[in-house]
Formats: sequence, C-alpha cells, structure tokens
Amino acid sequence: MAFFSRGTSLFRCSLAVCAVSCVAAGLAEAQAPQQRPTDAQVDRFVRDLLGKMTLDEKIGQMEQAAGQPMYTPPAKQDELTRSGSVGSFLFTTDPVRINELQKIAVEQSRLKIPLLFGYDVIHGFRTIYPIPLAMASSWDPALVEKGQSMAAREARSAGVHWAFAPMVDIARDARWGRIMESAGEDPVLGEAIAAAQVRGFQGAYVGEPGHLISSVKHFAGYGAAEGGRDYDSSNISDDLLYNVYLRPYHAGVKAGTATLMSAYMDLNSVPATGNKWLLTDVLRKEWGFKGWVVSDWDAVKSLQVHGLAESPADAAARAANAGVNMEMTSSTYRETLKQSVAAGTISAATIDDLVRPMLATKYRMGLFTNPYVDLAAYKAAQVTAEQRTAARIAAEQSAVLLRNEGEALPLHKSVKAVAVIGPLADSKLDIMGSWAIHGDRNDSVTVLQGLREKLTGAQVTYTIGVEIERGSATIFDEQVVPEKLTLTTPEAKATEFAHALDLAKAADTVVMVLGEAQTMNGENASRASITLPGEQERLLEAVVATGKPVVLVVMTGRPVNLTWANEHVPAILNVWYPGTEGGHAVANLLVGDVNPSGHLPVTWPRDAGQEPLYYNQNIPQNPENVAQRYWDIPSTPLFPFGYGLSYSKFTVGAAVVSGSVTASGNVTVSVPVTNTSGVRGATVVQMYTHQRAGSAARPRRELKEFAKVTVGAGETKTISLTMPAKDLTYWSAASHSWVLEPGTFDVWVGLDSAASQHGEFSLTK
Ligand code: NOJ
Repeated sequence: MAFFSRGTSLFRCSLAVCAVSCVAAGLAEAQAPQQRPTDAQVDRFVRDLLGKMTLDEKIGQMEQAAGQPMYTPPAKQDELTRSGSVGSFLFTTDPVRINELQKIAVEQSRLKIPLLFGYDVIHGFRTIYPIPLAMASSWDPALVEKGQSMAAREARSAGVHWAFAPMVDIARDARWGRIMESAGEDPVLGEAIAAAQVRGFQGAYVGEPGHLISSVKHFAGYGAAEGGRDYDSSNISDDLLYNVYLRPYHAGVKAGTATLMSAYMDLNSVPATGNKWLLTDVLRKEWGFKGWVVSDWDAVKSLQVHGLAESPADAAARAANAGVNMEMTSSTYRETLKQSVAAGTISAATIDDLVRPMLATKYRMGLFTNPYVDLAAYKAAQVTAEQRTAARIAAEQSAVLLRNEGEALPLHKSVKAVAVIGPLADSKLDIMGSWAIHGDRNDSVTVLQGLREKLTGAQVTYTIGVEIERGSATIFDEQVVPEKLTLTTPEAKATEFAHALDLAKAADTVVMVLGEAQTMNGENASRASITLPGEQERLLEAVVATGKPVVLVVMTGRPVNLTWANEHVPAILNVWYPGTEGGHAVANLLVGDVNPSGHLPVTWPRDAGQEPLYYNQNIPQNPENVAQRYWDIPSTPLFPFGYGLSYSKFTVGAAVVSGSVTASGNVTVSVPVTNTSGVRGATVVQMYTHQRAGSAARPRRELKEFAKVTVGAGETKTISLTMPAKDLTYWSAASHSWVLEPGTFDVWVGLDSAASQHGEFSLTK
C-alpha cells in the first residue's frame, strides 16, 4: 500500500546524472557515493554547514512533518521543503514522491540539505516478517538481525532511511496492545534482541549501503502503562527502572543506534518527552549517547496535555532543553523556538547542539551525494524470493509449540481428510499482524493455502465457523479496511456453525486457526479481557466434542486465555502473526518438515486478572503460600516464561557449577542435554540465578545466559553457559547505587524459567 498514488515521475531516467550534479553545491566537501567518511570529515562538514545556516534553517532541520496529504497537503510539503523549514518526513513511502521532494530540497532550498524519510518498518516493509514478539520467541539474535537487515534492504530501496524501530519496551502485561511489538518481559533477552535489531537495521555502521538508521523506542518505560492501557502513566521504581526497564534501551545505544524516540507517557509524573533527567542525564551523560532523539507523534505539543507546559512555546522549549532534537508532526519547534531563543528560554548554542548530529547522520548516510531512489532497483527489491525465504524461516523459528499430548503433531502426510476451520485460517490480512502497514495482503500465504499446497494427497475442506469483529482501526490516513462480516443474522451464524461441525465430523483431523484479528493489538489496542474474541471458544469446544483429533493453531499478538484449550485440545501451536510467508511456515511445522523450536519471551497467563504477571518477581514461588493467592484461579501462569516444546524430547541432566568466583571471574554451568527422541531438534537452554541475601531483595530468578542448541536424535550434548560475575551487579534501592555483593547464589539451568537443575556458587571479594 503506498500512501501516494499520484506522482508524476520527474526522475524515472535521470537519477544518475542528477545525483552528482545537483547536490550540495557550495558546501564544504562533496562525498563520493557509498564512501564511509571519517569522523573528522563529518565534523568538518557539519561545522561548515552549520556556519552557513540561519536560525530558521536550523530549526527547520528539527522539524519532522507528516507525509500523509491529510496532515500535510503536498503543496505545503513542497513549500516547507523549498524554504528549508523541514528536515524530515515520515510516512512517505512512494519512491516517486520521495524523489520529487528530494529534488526540491537539493535544487531549490537555499542550502540544498537533503531530507530524511522515516517510517514504521517494524516487522518488514513490503515483505512482512513475524511480529517482533514472535521474532523474540526464536531466542535467536542472529535470526532477528537477519530479519531486520532484510526489512532494511527493502525499505531503503524505496527511499526510506530511518526505521522507527526497534521497540524495546519491556512488556509484562498481555492487556497492553503493543506487547506484540516488544521482545517480551525480560531484560537480558530484551538486550540481546534490541542489539540484534539495531545491527540488522543499521549494518556495521551508520551509512552502510542498503541499511537504515534505527530508532530505539519508546524512551523510556512505555511498556509499564498502568492497567495495560496504552499511553497511560508509567510509575516505575528506580529499582525496576535500572534493573529491568532501561536495560534494553541501553543495549540499543551500545549497539550504536543513531536515534531514539522519546515516549508519549509520563514516567513517574515527568512526561518522557520533557524529561531532562532521562534524555540528558541518563542518555547522554551516563550512557554517552552521541546520536539524536525524535519525539513520538505530537508528543512535544502533548506536554501541554500532560500539564507540564503551559503553552506551545513552553512545550517546545522544555522538549528541546530536555534533549529532543527533532519534533515529530506537531510544529511547536518551527512556530516558537526562534522567539524562545530571542526570549532566552533556550540558547542558540543548545539549538546548534541539537542540529549537529542530524546533519552528521545525513552526511554519513551519503544523502548529500545521492538522495535519490533508483526506481528500477526499487521495483526489483520488493517481495523477492530471497525475502520470502527469509520471512518463512523466521516464521518457522518463531512458532511456539505449547502442547502436544500423545504426539498429536506432526500430522501424517498421508492424512486423507483435513478440515481447516476458523476465522483466521484464510485471512490474508490478519496473518500479517499489526504494524504491517506497508504490506500488501495479496502477497500473504494463509494457513489454508499452505496446508493445501503441502497435503496434496488429502481433501482439505475449509470454513470459518464463526466470524470475529475486526473493528476499523485507522492507521494514520490509511483505513485498514476490515474484511466484511457476512454472517449478519442469527440464522446465518447458526448455519455456518453447524457447517463447521459437519466438516469436522467428515474429516480425519481438524486444524483450527483461532486468535485475534490483527486490529485487536498494536497501538491503541489494549484489551481488558484476553479471551479468544467472539464465539471462537464455543466453536472450539463444539469441534472438540465431535471427538475428532483437533490441532489448535493460535494466531495472536498477545497471550490469550487458553486455559480450556490446554485441558482439552491435544496439540496447540502458537504462531503469533507469522507474516507474508506464514502459511508456508505453519504448514511445514504442522507436518513436521520443520521441528518447532520457539520459546516464550513472555509469561503466559491463565487470565487477564493475573496481569501483570512475570517470572522474575521477588517473592519465591512456594506452592504452599503463593500459588493460591486468588480465590478463583491458581496464581501460577499457564505456561512459564521461556517455555516451548518440540517434536523432539529433551532431558536436562545434573548441573555442574564451576565454583566460587571473584568479581572479575566467570561462572560456568554445564548440563548434559539429551534428545531422547528419534527426531533432530533445537531447544533453548537457559541459565537463571538468584542472590540469596543482599542489601535489597532480588528476583527469585533472573535469566543470565541462554543458548539455542540443536541436538541430534538420541544424542547428548554438554552445554556450558558462562556468565561474567559482574553480571550479578544490580542497582540497589538501599544504597541508590550499583552494587556487586559477595554472597551465595542459586543457579538453575533448564529449558524454561521453571528449570529444576539446581546448583549454587559463591561470589567472594
Ligand atoms: C506513534 C507510535 O507510538 C510510534 O511508535 C510510531 O513510530 C509513530 N507513531 C510514528 O508512526
């Protein structure tokens, strides 16, 4: 879906010529295409350019305008560009239009500074990859890095320079719609996935050809929204902030992200976008961040809504003084910062400091040399076979087998009659997931299609059984058109329901594909309940009651309530939203051509009432006094963090711990992992520690190391996980400082956070 269907092509044939002749005339230093400049060259270029800029032009570089015509009409976009009043557009993805705007910028604006185009490349551009929560379920940073580098390549070919990703917010609450965009609840897994995404987007350095710059978001604490309600306040203790929430952002910074995005919500009552402590003291001074910060959409103006600022001018000055370099969509910078410099509420030197890294990034990215899209290369780069293969593999590695009683899976390829039932089984839209806004549903392979292609010898029947409401989510100016409900009368609903049962009865095996419509999660899509929407649970129960073997494929952006299913359905495969190639991946998994190996990056609750539910709480899980905190349900999760089955069977033998360590030493834990089955497979070996006593209570378990390992049929592998003792450092709420405290530590190794192989070691001075 492109946002611009208009578009006269001024550039179709003349890019190469234009690239060299029309850019950066009169500027200090021309840049050879794809040549990596030295830091000294960048500094010199930026100093010279800044020296030529008026205050208005500097403030223009701090403006990011919405590229959708409904927000910024094209004529206005042209005029802003021509007058040097804008540094970046977001949501312009039509390469023809990108070339038009770049031509105006580099031929008609006084200083010929090219534009930067940003977009939500969250889990793919045109080829849609599994949602980020799914990618994290692979526990495979290399796979995650590859996925984002593929997405970067596709987006960059369209002229997009900047991904508003990765979202690294820790998410401990399934009610929060944006949990789908996260890497889950754990800081250590979150750090690994955050860094992998930054590497994938950016490549080895900012400006590497075929890559984008990344934006680690939403700084900071957006995932802790009260009640899982999107945009609500986050109240996070210093303990949790330092030990949990801030860590993945810091990992993204260490991985070299060029930008961060400041969050909408207030963090402990100070809105993140006006939070100087966060954006300057922590980010720049403590972490040494040298890049730049963009606000979230309208977040600067919203400082008034939050009651931090009394006027647009106050909001702009507060955000800029706090350290927000670029304002997304609201234009308080453009409208007020000049007067604020005159009034002395912000200094000219601060403006220079904010502009410098943005000019440097444009230079590093080679835009002063060639800002244009090669339209032929763009077309050739979309949804290629290579993209499809990478997306399929990613989907295969992200699925989590939650249950497989009596080896109900894999399906025998010789099966003769399969009924595929459910509202998500053949939905080309839902399988892409949320944040697939540039994806084209016509590219999608559904589960039904995948199974029909795979089971060529079987009769594969299909019906939806029930419909689910999709609502009508509006994503910016793009209406996600809900697939129309067709069952509008009680009679039609009853007939369809009965038809599904008839198909189930006539089949040897039933594959039910149930879950959430993709509009039910993502931004602005929290849920108070996490039950299967609509009549899906009733349908599931009725199909199971037919006595036919049932396999449940769950397609969702958050953990949903599977309590009944977990007691009555022999096989449950959670595929999240697997993306463009989802149908092929799911079919491969269901028939055993691929062995499931994903593990949960979030604790799977029984019910929404348990949320927030996470494994690394402080109170030990003592069944005697903790498991029954609720009157009506157990307080334990349905599936623990880190959990995932396989068609292989793994056992983990006794843990051998290396012994006591000093602060500069390493702790190594080794376990034999045996695959007792006849099927080669992969699993995730996880190491957790617990500090028995110290200046502050510590989580009952904390993930420290993990490794995804493949073990052959009947094979035993000894897996050693090594943790530097300094990783036991934590921020103590007692001393308000980072501490590494000598003492005794428990260690567990296993295949999820309930791991039972236990050892201990001591940390000595
Ligand atoms: C608002 C979202 O919070 C943010 O994640 C996104 O990048 C921007 N809109 C731009 O679409």
